[in-house]
Amino acid sequence: MTKVLLGFMGAGKSTIARGLDPNYLDMDALIEKRLGMSIAEFFSEMGEETFRQVESEVLAELLQRDQVVSTGGGVVVSQRNRDLLKTNSDNIYLKADFDTLYQRISADKDNQRPLFLNNSKEELAAIFQERQALYEEVASRILDVTELSPEEIIEELR
Ligand code: S3P
Repeated sequence: MTKVLLGFMGAGKSTIARGLDPNYLDMDALIEKRLGMSIAEFFSEMGEETFRQVESEVLAELLQRDQVVSTGGGVVVSQRNRDLLKTNSDNIYLKADFDTLYQRISADKDNQRPLFLNNSKEELAAIFQERQALYEEVASRILDVTELSPEEIIEELR
């Protein structure tokens, strides 16, 4: 069964996926390959709604594979995606507190997320709050990673 890592931006989904399986599939990287541009560029050219459509298509394809998959933080927003996740994969929610995540997101100059660029800290906190119930709805396991190192998280999930 596909093992899916879920969580807000900055939760460490890709790092943990790589540690669990060096051949993991990175949903955002595959989306960028398909779009032929960065997610940030696509957001500003085509808008978030079009991005979400591509994201859903790629998710459906990845869930056919029996591998570890790291997702983008907004994958749980659509009901269709949540239904796909609930029926096709083992979903691990990497949960962390907002301030920790915000620090990581703002420090990550190599990956400037559009939702970070386009929203104030308060607006992003509201998006984080809204999504909690969605991550929890699809999660088969919730791991609070706020105080854990990547090594500890990987050990815990192995
Ligand atoms: C998004 C998270 C990003 C990326 C896009 C939208 C979101 O992925 O998919 O910028 O809506 O939370 P990461 O969670 O890997 O940063």
